[in-house]
Amino acid sequence: MPIEWRDKLSVGDPTLDADHKNLIKIINEFEEKADAGFDRQVLSETLKRLMGYAKEHFAREERLQARINYPYYDRHCQEHRRLLRDVEGHIRTYMEDTSTEIDGEVKLAMLHFLRDWLINHIIEQDLKMRPFLGAS
Ligand SMILES: [Fe+2]
Repeated sequence: MPIEWRDKLSVGDPTLDADHKNLIKIINEFEEKADAGFDRQVLSETLKRLMGYAKEHFAREERLQARINYPYYDRHCQEHRRLLRDVEGHIRTYMEDTSTEIDGEVKLAMLHFLRDWLINHIIEQDLKMRPFLGAS
């Protein structure tokens, strides 16, 4: 089932919200493509897009946090490093080690990973920025 953007996911900054919508799009497109035929190509494309997204978005988010003197800045940066390590781990497991079979189990693991990424990152971490960005 595709994930839908809702106003309650807004962190109160249009640029970051646009980035988060992009993350949702990556997840939804992965699900759609994986349902049509899951293979290493679909998986690789998703992981590459996710890595690209993560690097750009985290940098934007950290710059904004520094600008507003966000009190949880250090903790949030550590969380970003952890999330990047997670994607790198998936890249190593599924893209670099081509002996790993790409099957239904991997597809499910990948879906869980993407949703966990979204939930941990936007819902649990980023929404804490809301009061500091002038949103209620
Ligand atoms: Fe974010």
